[in-house]
Amino acid sequence: MFNKRTKIKEVLETEPNNQEITVMGWVRTFRNNQFIALNDGSTNSNLQIVVALGLYDEALLKRITTGASLKITGELLPSLGKGQKSELKAKSIEILGDCDPEKFPLQPKKHSLEFLREKAHLRFRTNTFGAVFRVRHALAFAIHQFFNERGFVYLHTPIITASDAEGAGEMFKVTTLPFDKTPRNDDGSVNFKEDFFGRATNLTVSGQLEGELGAMAFSDIYTFGPTFRAENSNTPRHLAEFWMIEPEMAFYDLEDNMNLAEAFIKYLIGYAMKNNKEDLEFLGQRLTEEEKQKPQEERSEMGLIEKLEFVVNNDFQRITYTEAIDILLNSPAYKKKKFKFEVTWGIDMQSEHERYLVEKHFKKPVIVTNYPKDIKAFYMRQNEDGKTVAAMDILAPGIGEIVGGSQREERLEKLEQRMKDMHVPTEEMWWYLDTRRFGSVPHAGFGLGFERMVLFVTGMTNIRDVIAFPRTPGSAEF
Ligand code: 4AD
Ligand code: MG
Repeated sequence: MFNKRTKIKEVLETEPNNQEITVMGWVRTFRNNQFIALNDGSTNSNLQIVVALGLYDEALLKRITTGASLKITGELLPSLGKGQKSELKAKSIEILGDCDPEKFPLQPKKHSLEFLREKAHLRFRTNTFGAVFRVRHALAFAIHQFFNERGFVYLHTPIITASDAEGAGEMFKVTTLPFDKTPRNDDGSVNFKEDFFGRATNLTVSGQLEGELGAMAFSDIYTFGPTFRAENSNTPRHLAEFWMIEPEMAFYDLEDNMNLAEAFIKYLIGYAMKNNKEDLEFLGQRLTEEEKQKPQEERSEMGLIEKLEFVVNNDFQRITYTEAIDILLNSPAYKKKKFKFEVTWGIDMQSEHERYLVEKHFKKPVIVTNYPKDIKAFYMRQNEDGKTVAAMDILAPGIGEIVGGSQREERLEKLEQRMKDMHVPTEEMWWYLDTRRFGSVPHAGFGLGFERMVLFVTGMTNIRDVIAFPRTPGSAEF
């Protein structure tokens, strides 16, 4: 059996007492023809393999290069060297795959994140990306655990859809029509009746609308899947393909919604702190090193772990949009004309405004509620004032908006009117409106951007470094 091996994570947790074990992995370094640092991705730490001098021929030793894959059987002994409890004294070494050091792009030294983005097919083999993607995995697992513990049903909403859930028109088209011989109607428009689905379709921007249908039967559902936005935003916070978690709850109002979202974020952070200690410590050190390059006033006041603990242990600040605008208008930053974009009631807050509220003013996550209706989606519940809707966004330090959600408009007439005002096709969305016809209930939900959450927990600063193969304008390699 090929796979009779022990993973390095388990080896490092085992008391060494000369037992024979087999490990497999990739060489990180080979020092003095004697010490191999082997990594198999199960943990950030390498296993030290000791190669007795004179036991192996030169030809084999030459093939032990950074990146080569090995199968090693040996005896696990207490280590004499510093920094490790045990080491493996090799009895047999088999090269599974050679790795030409002249051609292998990853050298045993620090590479820049930009360089590694171009080598995204290999970057999992670095300490930083190993840690990031183990944390990403743990968060994904914790998401299911959180909702499962609370009796939510995991609903798989479609990836291909004919509707625009956010009504923002930022969709990728899905079609099998030929580009050169597009079928046309008499008026020159594309004849989608001849397309695969017999109508125009696109990749989903959000599973929310279908999620609402589920909540009208199961009470509590969540989706967790890829979503797609053709917005031309080349920023460290935007992807064209990102993963989103969207819970939707019947019999919830805006406050219930905020409470769930806050508990959810804290749960995820707590899970990672408990289960990914080593990786988070590594990422924390990495961040501290990186921050040393910045001028003093731009450095964060807390280290990564300290920041995560703080978020778990403190209430998020809750303010209305109107209060947020007042804070901005009265801020020293505004008075000194430090904001690039204008501040006035009705604006869609820019990232500089959100960051001011979170990082300078409150110094903690902030939930902003009751936004002007004109800057929010058609499905949000209209407030009595006629100007605002029952929306809530959660803003996180260093990230900006991490959650967007709302109480939904459950009153059929109000919803239909709003859709008409905003040119959202009511006929095509008959199925959505049916929820308001057949046993409508107050309900609410939100979307957490998964990559923004991973950014927050890992302390990474560019969203391209927390998704395996980022899709951004002009870039779809790998
Ligand atoms: O605020 P958004 O657009 O809300 C919705 O899609 C709602 N349907 C959610 C709901 O109520 N069920 O997106 C939700 C979150 C944002 O707060 C952000 O974290 C993330 O999704 N997000 C993106 N993440 C990466 N790249 C992008 N282009 C993103 N756009 C939104
Ligand atoms: Mg939003």
